[in-house]
Amino acid sequence: MNPEPGDGRARGAAPRNIILVGFMGSGKSTVGRGLARLRGWRFVDTDAVIRDGVSGRPIPELFAEEGEAAFRDRETTALRAVCDGERQVIATGGGAVLRPENVELLRQAGLVVWLTARPDVVVARTGHRVADRPLLASGGGDLLAHVLRLLGERGPLYQAAAHLIVDTSDRPPPAIVQEIDRKAVRRWHAPRQKGEPA
Ligand code: S3P
Repeated sequence: MNPEPGDGRARGAAPRNIILVGFMGSGKSTVGRGLARLRGWRFVDTDAVIRDGVSGRPIPELFAEEGEAAFRDRETTALRAVCDGERQVIATGGGAVLRPENVELLRQAGLVVWLTARPDVVVARTGHRVADRPLLASGGGDLLAHVLRLLGERGPLYQAAAHLIVDTSDRPPPAIVQEIDRKAVRRWHAPRQKGEPA
């Protein structure tokens, strides 16, 4: 986790946005919707923004027709547009942290929260609809091994992007929403020493 610098706020003030990063199946959309409701903020899902930009074409279709690099370009464009806003809970795609420029954008736009989930939980949450997620579908037969491999690559990137980390493995979404809100509010109300964990 990287608590300093920046989360789009002056010390003691609320951040402009709360941004959820994390692996596929970590609960970003479900938790994000609940958190937005709790705070009275807008919920934005960047995958939905990407789909809106291509007349609703599904993401697996984009991957198949244009390839991953083109998808990542669309993702960066969507993140730029969304990060201009405020009072939003933003759920990002699991690969949003792959580009350093995205991470920079997100950290400037608000408080970045990494939602974690154990690999077996990810498999349980995503295994029945692997076709919806091209990055999982490309792994072949052993989903757990593929998830472990991707998590190994991405874990350090989520970690470096995050101001806060919240595990979603064994609790229902409302409890996770409460925990994020509590930690976020505590973080922006209590001035910290440089380097002190949130
Ligand atoms: C991706 C995650 C997906 C979506 C795309 C790529 C990834 O979003 O952006 O399929 O690279 O991890 P979710 O994390 O919401 O499933």
